Amino acid sequence: MENVSDPSHIDFAHHKVTGRRDRAKPLPFKLESSGPWGFEGSNDGNPRISAKFIAPCYYINKIEIDTKLPIVGDQKWVIWICSFNVTMAPGKTRSIVCSARNFFQHAWDSLVAGELKLLVVPRWHEHWTSNKVYDSDMIVLQGQKKIFLSKSNEGIEDIHKQYTNITFTPTQADRFVLAFRNWLRLHGQSQPEWFGASGRQPLPSTYLSREQMLDRFDQHARVLLMQLRIVIAGAAILFTAIVYALHELGKNFIYVDYVHAEIELKANDLIELNK
Ligand SMILES: [Fe+2]
Repeated sequence: MENVSDPSHIDFAHHKVTGRRDRAKPLPFKLESSGPWGFEGSNDGNPRISAKFIAPCYYINKIEIDTKLPIVGDQKWVIWICSFNVTMAPGKTRSIVCSARNFFQHAWDSLVAGELKLLVVPRWHEHWTSNKVYDSDMIVLQGQKKIFLSKSNEGIEDIHKQYTNITFTPTQADRFVLAFRNWLRLHGQSQPEWFGASGRQPLPSTYLSREQMLDRFDQHARVLLMQLRIVIAGAAILFTAIVYALHELGKNFIYVDYVHAEIELKANDLIELNK
């Protein structure tokens, strides 16, 4: 949640992936309202970012960019990035992200903007780029988590309370990060209710290797694998039933034994039943 409430990290943490360090600008955010429901705010400028956190796990970022293109002239580009960050276990979050934009939707738009790249880049390549974004976040977050843990080992009980002392957050660009930490402390009891999972167990970020942290298969293919297994198991049962039925049917064309006594026995059973 802190990651999505901090647009200013994009140009630094995702340098040459979705941002550029040399293009970073001050983002003087203002908090417009807040409460147990969440918070919202925005900045005045270009890009204009309007952010809204709806407790406990929904975050919306609307990014408006005024730009000028050859031929078509002034344009207002709008990007929406909405994310549900669902806490699964201590140190584990399921992130469901949806994004939309009102530009580069058609091949013609891309041609006009000189973005020929978008015409030939397939959709799966966009997913690879998103993986790079998550990888760079993962490394930064793992480092931050380690610092927080060392602080709690030093005796600081609630790091959210001490957040501004542990971290360096002097600019207005950090306004929403602090707003989220405040919400978590005031209305979110500083962490989710884990329902039985011990808060004392070591967090994945402290013992997982770099390769395990960035394991793409583990990150988002495992659910698909489970679904695939269920489908294959279902298909195997169905296939076995079909083979058995065909085998029984096939007997009628080859050999079916005739035992008169069995027929007699069945007739006697019927007589017994009628009695
Ligand atoms: Fe990020």
